[in-house]
Amino acid sequence: MVAELSSAVAVEVARAATLLVSKQRICILTGAGISAESGIPTFRDKQTGLWENYRAEDLATPEAFARDPKLVWSWYQWRRQLVHDKQPNPAHRALAQWQQHCARVNQQLTLITQNVDDLHEQANRLEQTIDKVIHLHGHLWRNRCSHCDKAYEGNTPMSNREVESVEKNADKPSYRFDDSLLQCTHCGSYIRPDIVWFGESLPVDAWQTAEEAAAHCEVFISIGTSSLVYPAAGLAQLAKQNGAKIIEINPDPTANDIVDITLAEKAGIVMPVLIEQIYQHSFP
Ligand code: APR
Repeated sequence: MVAELSSAVAVEVARAATLLVSKQRICILTGAGISAESGIPTFRDKQTGLWENYRAEDLATPEAFARDPKLVWSWYQWRRQLVHDKQPNPAHRALAQWQQHCARVNQQLTLITQNVDDLHEQANRLEQTIDKVIHLHGHLWRNRCSHCDKAYEGNTPMSNREVESVEKNADKPSYRFDDSLLQCTHCGSYIRPDIVWFGESLPVDAWQTAEEAAAHCEVFISIGTSSLVYPAAGLAQLAKQNGAKIIEINPDPTANDIVDITLAEKAGIVMPVLIEQIYQHSFP
C-alpha cells in the first residue's frame, strides 16, 4: 500500500504515525472529503442534474424551506437517492479499525464529523466497533418537525421510496424517493431533514463534546474538510491553542498555517497506510 504514496507523503505518514503512537488523546474531525471516494460529492463540488443551477448554501437554510418547502425537501430526497447505496470506503474502514485499536491500547480517540451521511456508522458496524460518532451538522436519514421539532419516525423517505426495476432482470433496482411533503403527526407542520442549516445552531451536546475533545487532545486530525465553515472549522485552532499538534489529510491542503503535518493525499489511500504503521509501532 505504501507503494501508492509519493515518497514525500510516505515520509509525512511515518512522522504522523510516530507522533500518534506516543500520545494518549486524539481528536479527529472529518468533512465531505472522507466520503468522496465512496462516490458522494463533496459539499462544494458543483451540483449536477436538476440541481446544477442551485448552490447547496442557498437550499440548506430555514429561509429557503419556509419560502419553498417542496423545493428544499425534493433536494434532500435527491441527495438521499444519491447516497442511499453508497458504501464506506477504506478511509472509513481504517478509522473504525483504529477506534478499535485505541480501545485496546487505552488511547482516547474522539471522532467528530461534519458529514450527514452514515458511512462512519456503517464502517463501525462492519468493523464491530461500538464507538460513537459525533455529528455536528445532523443526520441525512433523520427527520423532524419544522415547527415543534418532534422527531419524525413515521413514513421516512426510505420507506417512501418506490422500487422501480429499470429492466425486468435488473440486478439492482433503481430507487426513486417520493418527494411529497410529509406532515407532523403532532402539530401538522411540514417535516424537514434533521440537519443543521446555515444560520442554525449546532446540537448543544454534540458541540460541547467536540469542544471538550478538541481543547484536551494532544493531536487533532482534520480529514477531508475545506475548514471553511465555523464553528466546526475553529476546532483545530482550539486544539492548537491548547498545545496539540495538528495533522491535515487532504489531497488539496488548505492554507491553514497551524498544521504541523500535512498528508497531501486522498484519505482512502493514505488512511490505511497510516493505521498500518500505527499498528507496527504499537506491536513491533
Ligand atoms: N480525501 C480527503 N479529502 C478530500 C478528498 C479525498 N478523497 N476529496 C476531496 N477532499 C477535500 C477537498 O479538497 C476539500 O478540501 O475535502 C474537502 C471538502 O470540502 P467541502 O466540500 O467544503 O466540505 P466540508 O469541508 O465538509 O464542508 C463543511 O460546510 O457547507 C457546510 O454543512 C456543510 O458540513 C459541511 C461544511
